[in-house]
Amino acid sequence: MFMNFRRIHKYQFVQLLATALVLSVLMVSWEELDHHVVSHVKSYTYRYMINSYDFLNSSFTITANHPHGTGRFRNVGGALVNYPYLINHPKKCEARDGKNWDDIFLLLFVKSSPESFERRQAIRETWGNESFVWSKLGVRVSLLFPIGVHSDVRQRSEIQSRLLKEDKIYGDLIQRNFVDTFHNLTNKLILQFHWSQNYCPKAQFVMSADDDVFVHMPNLVKYLQHLLTSQSGTKDLWVGHVHRGSPPNRRKDSKYHVPYAMYPWPSYPDYTAGAGYVVSGDVAAKIYKATLVMNSSMYIDDVFMGICASAMGVYPQGHVYFSGEAKTPYHSCIYDHMITSHGHAADMRSLWQAATADRNPTGFMGNVYCTAVRMVLLCLPYFQNTYSCFAAFT
Ligand SMILES: *[C@@H]1O[C@H](CO)[C@@H](O)[C@H](O)[C@H]1NC(C)=O
Ligand SMILES: *[C@@H]1O[C@H](CO)[C@@H](O)[C@H](O)[C@H]1NC(C)=O
Ligand SMILES: *[C@@H]1O[C@H](CO)[C@@H](O)[C@H](O)[C@H]1NC(C)=O
Ligand SMILES: *[C@@H]1O[C@H](CO)[C@@H](O)[C@H](O)[C@H]1NC(C)=O
Repeated sequence: MFMNFRRIHKYQFVQLLATALVLSVLMVSWEELDHHVVSHVKSYTYRYMINSYDFLNSSFTITANHPHGTGRFRNVGGALVNYPYLINHPKKCEARDGKNWDDIFLLLFVKSSPESFERRQAIRETWGNESFVWSKLGVRVSLLFPIGVHSDVRQRSEIQSRLLKEDKIYGDLIQRNFVDTFHNLTNKLILQFHWSQNYCPKAQFVMSADDDVFVHMPNLVKYLQHLLTSQSGTKDLWVGHVHRGSPPNRRKDSKYHVPYAMYPWPSYPDYTAGAGYVVSGDVAAKIYKATLVMNSSMYIDDVFMGICASAMGVYPQGHVYFSGEAKTPYHSCIYDHMITSHGHAADMRSLWQAATADRNPTGFMGNVYCTAVRMVLLCLPYFQNTYSCFAAFT
């Protein structure tokens, strides 16, 4: 009895201490916690309990007194603006060797900025190499870099003439006359879907990727071809790294600050990270239609895409090897499965070589070994953002 009593006291003391510790940590980091925890809880409640996006109502459309579709329209503040093309290649999707444009397998947009000459070059020589994909993988890919005009007025004309030279060699830039800034990313998104609808409507798939993303093209093509032959087919496809029930950021000092006037609800529709995602041709057409009527003042392009998609009844599906912020661990056991990886620049070429090198058939023991390696690389907590642990077991 006596022993028990003392033990309880000791236990309570430890409990009290622990509580105090937790409370003080909470208080010190309250601001952060408040923001993240509260807004996520609110967002998830809204997303999963209250309704599933009936809240994205007609207040997001701009049809009312903004007629468009005829002539040139300039209307800032969310309505569609028809920025004229400065560089364009309307026939890019038409074939060079007699075939017609029915056979574009993948229309590939790599979101770039005017000054990112190096990045574009690295992509052309690696995963964006159209002739590699055609000769080695047997499908036709069409690569384009959507850009705006350089944001610094003093450098603009010099950069623009470099762009024209670059485009004369490669013929893969599309540029509209808007300033290439973070807050104009939605205009870049609109550029992609308008281009695809106008000049390449029969592409089977459309991909949008950042220019610091590595795409394992052989794996991607294999995956998409598998979808084509599987029963589920390729209608309504939107695949990538999905953000589910994300709350808008209401902090005024944040880069991603979204005021209530722009988006009043506590939760965004599900959307895929803009780093790299793929849609089927029918979804691209639907997104195009939505961009004609949705208020595009939402400057976060991934979120705007989610708004357009959910207005059209399209919802994203996740894939463990499409990354958001994540960077692939450099290991051959990962290369067999990976699709996209974020945060590459100087290592684009070496990664491409390593990832596309021929490997010996692995066999049963090889598979066991690789699963073990992937578990170590993906499931142990490192201070590095990689694919989720689930990816180790696919
Ligand atoms: C749309 O939703 C907002 C916020 O929930 C609400 O204030 C507004 O009245 C709704 N508009 C329509 C047209 O239903
Ligand atoms: C693209 O790939 C082809 C075929 O593999 C190769 O001959 C060519 O040199 C590559 N192009 C570039 C720009 O690296
Ligand atoms: C977007 O581009 C337009 C056209 O160049 C420009 O007027 C506007 O200021 C830009 N917006 C932002 C937020 O940079
Ligand atoms: C779009 O939404 C913004 C709020 O973010 C509003 O100020 C603007 O008037 C809207 N534009 C149109 C054309 O409805």
